[in-house]
Amino acid sequence: MSKEISTPRAPQVPRIPRGTSDILPTEIFLWRDIEAKARRLLSTYNFQEIRTPVFEETALFKRSLGQTSDVVNKQLLELVSGKDEGCALRPEGTASVVRSYIENSLDRQQALTKLFYLGPMFRGERPQKGRSRQFHQIGVEAIGPNTATPYLDAEIIALNVELLRTLGVRDFRLKINTLGSAQDKESFSGALRKALHADAAKLCEDCRDRFERNVFRILDCKNSGCRAVVAGLKPGHEHLSEESRAYYVRLKEILKNLGVEFEEVPSLVRGLDYYTHTVFEITQPSLGSQDAISAGGRYNNLVAQLGGPQVDAVGFACGVERILLAMPADARPPQERLKAYVVALDEHVFPKAFRILQQLRGAGIAGDINYKVSSMKSQMRSADKSGSRYVVILGEEEDKKGVVALKDMTTGEQQEVKEDKLITTLSDKG
Ligand code: HAM
Repeated sequence: MSKEISTPRAPQVPRIPRGTSDILPTEIFLWRDIEAKARRLLSTYNFQEIRTPVFEETALFKRSLGQTSDVVNKQLLELVSGKDEGCALRPEGTASVVRSYIENSLDRQQALTKLFYLGPMFRGERPQKGRSRQFHQIGVEAIGPNTATPYLDAEIIALNVELLRTLGVRDFRLKINTLGSAQDKESFSGALRKALHADAAKLCEDCRDRFERNVFRILDCKNSGCRAVVAGLKPGHEHLSEESRAYYVRLKEILKNLGVEFEEVPSLVRGLDYYTHTVFEITQPSLGSQDAISAGGRYNNLVAQLGGPQVDAVGFACGVERILLAMPADARPPQERLKAYVVALDEHVFPKAFRILQQLRGAGIAGDINYKVSSMKSQMRSADKSGSRYVVILGEEEDKKGVVALKDMTTGEQQEVKEDKLITTLSDKG
């Protein structure tokens, strides 16, 4: 028998999982800018940061977001092996914040707990523009006993609008609605079932299921057949109690008083079950079919529903990837640049050049060097690629004179600077 000679196969190159992305150094400055601006603004509204785990017990999401919500039913990324069985990656932040609020008895610390979070969320969705399986949210939650006032709802909405403006997003639309109290929602469900009954057979399979379990969701189904059925419905606010109606009217007055422009959309319901009263969504038409940049609302029963005290709550979350998609080029901050690239013209001066570099860094001036002494041309090419604003050149001649040549990479101008004046010269250049 002849021996088979197997040719070694090139190892398969590992690929990033579908629906996720790397944030490369060329774009990370945008993320850091967004995060810094968001942190600054949120602290002026007295929100404090909270960081919760990226996974939680699956039951937390089922009990809070709703068994029939798509997020739980179809998109939950569950951990199926090892010790973490029974856990899932968080699809959003509200449930985790509420879990932490209860577990850490935060209600005992302050009348109103104002929290914000920044971080990755995970949903097993079919990826498309503006929709990924790992995405990032900036979210806020204001939770506390007896804090259901339309002023707080208005503050949260105004903050959301201001956050997007601060980040340079323009031409967005704020849509608001009210679902009323839990009781109002019940009567709304009944009325909707009645109105949809005759057309139930025309609904998609998911909506036929939703008909019994969560009839609201039929209102925002994307299926064209369901849309046609819903178009004839014209949902109104007949189901609202006097109190809920007055709350909503007051909210609209406060928003107008603050100069926050909004559009009332009575068919606006949300994909997650926990909302009561105010719901809102901010969309930006340039995003296409996934046009919601941000969404939120009030959820007065969730904390108690999860075994905590009866407290009120309201919040929102923005999608960072969608903010980036909606951000016009002129709103993007300039990329941070290296300040000084050191070029040593021969081996002999390299140790000194290296010491100068360390001195610059010690003075807080960002600098780098080509660790291999090559031709001036090749080192200048590296300096150019680094994006550095200045190049510090040290050759034998400069060494003897106790100077360096300082080249401005923007203007091309070059000047001689005494070694001991280099730090002040570069610092003065801003
Ligand atoms: P949500 O509407 O499910 O609400 O998500 C909020 C935002 O997250 C969306 O408007 C969108 O910008 C972004 N987002 C959601 N899914 C994806 C995805 N697959 N890819 C990219 N971006 C996405 C919530 O999550 C609630 N927790 C909001 C809230 C906070 N309500 C009260 N407090």
